Amino acid sequence: MIFSVAILCLAGCSVKQSNQLDVDRELNYCRSQIERTLKEISADNRMPKNIADSLTRWKTADITISEWTAGFFPGILWYNYENTQSPADADIARYYTDLLEPLTKLPAYDHDLGFQIFCSYGNAYRLTGNEADKQIILNEADTLATLYNPKAGTILSWPRNVDLYGGHNTIIDNMINLEMLFWAAKNGGNKKLYDIAVKHAETTMKNGFREDGGCYHVAIYDTIDGHFIKGVTHQGYADSSLWARGQSWAIYGYTMVYRETGDKKFLRFAEKVTDLYLSRLPEGEYVPYWDFDAPNIPEEPRDASAAAITASALLELSQLEDNREKSAKYQTAAINMLAELSSDKYQSGTAKPSFLLHSTGHYPNGSEIDASIIYADYYYIEALVRYKQP
Ligand code: GLY
Repeated sequence: MIFSVAILCLAGCSVKQSNQLDVDRELNYCRSQIERTLKEISADNRMPKNIADSLTRWKTADITISEWTAGFFPGILWYNYENTQSPADADIARYYTDLLEPLTKLPAYDHDLGFQIFCSYGNAYRLTGNEADKQIILNEADTLATLYNPKAGTILSWPRNVDLYGGHNTIIDNMINLEMLFWAAKNGGNKKLYDIAVKHAETTMKNGFREDGGCYHVAIYDTIDGHFIKGVTHQGYADSSLWARGQSWAIYGYTMVYRETGDKKFLRFAEKVTDLYLSRLPEGEYVPYWDFDAPNIPEEPRDASAAAITASALLELSQLEDNREKSAKYQTAAINMLAELSSDKYQSGTAKPSFLLHSTGHYPNGSEIDASIIYADYYYIEALVRYKQP
């Protein structure tokens, strides 16, 4: 299937480009990169995490409760299976998913439990209907909800950083992990999980953003009475700057919350955070610099992971839209992002077994700068699979 952006862009669409995306070719590429990865990491109960700019092999990570990226590789394997429908691909996805089982016996370390469990077991259940997976997700949703502070109205994202920030902290990334709560409430779990997810989304909408729709990475609340204290950054350039991946999490998160609630205020907010992101992209380009306000643009590294997350979110947002022009605009932008990510500039090709190059994990910390990162690959294949669906 080859889709041309130009023919999908309806009248009034403000994002126009004639990039082409051959989705079957890109999914076949992902499959061959997965085969390379599996050969490289076989006989090793660890998960691929990143490949530094100067290296060609995966750095793998131990599967521990504090390894927030542990669920992405199993999730990639499930999306690959969704595309190929090959039983052998399902078997390998099952194997890597089951490696996470020890995590499901532990109390919540932080909000990333949602990434760890829903990307892996969530996709496993979606594609196989295996009852044991369902039970694990239901249990883990309850575990995640233990971090909820009703005074603040949000989940405590990083219990370990309460002293550092001087209070209850909620990061924008946490929006993604509400999906597991919505899912559990709908699939036999505690109905209060729905209320917690909605309240978290509402509170974050109120306190976690500036007037223009740009997010703070971290919103800090008083631990005792829950009042909002201030917004700061952790992985962005400055407290008031637009950290690219943070804004991507917001786009993805509010799109998902609108899907789950049907409440138009979340749709309007998803549009707001998206429109800001799109308006700040470099002219004619679809992969942002790691922070839209980084001081040395155009010499700053890019963040392909932000583009992959946003592309996947916008494919969904374009489907949910009640406005035809906005729907076309978001779909066009998503295809342009995927086309750019699928170019020689961003694909790892034969050089490395990852799908993508040029992501930035934690610039202020000096880690994962201009690297291949496993979650960029996860959202890239998710977006390709979403795009291929009728
Ligand atoms: N959740 C951490 C990040 O986006 O880097």
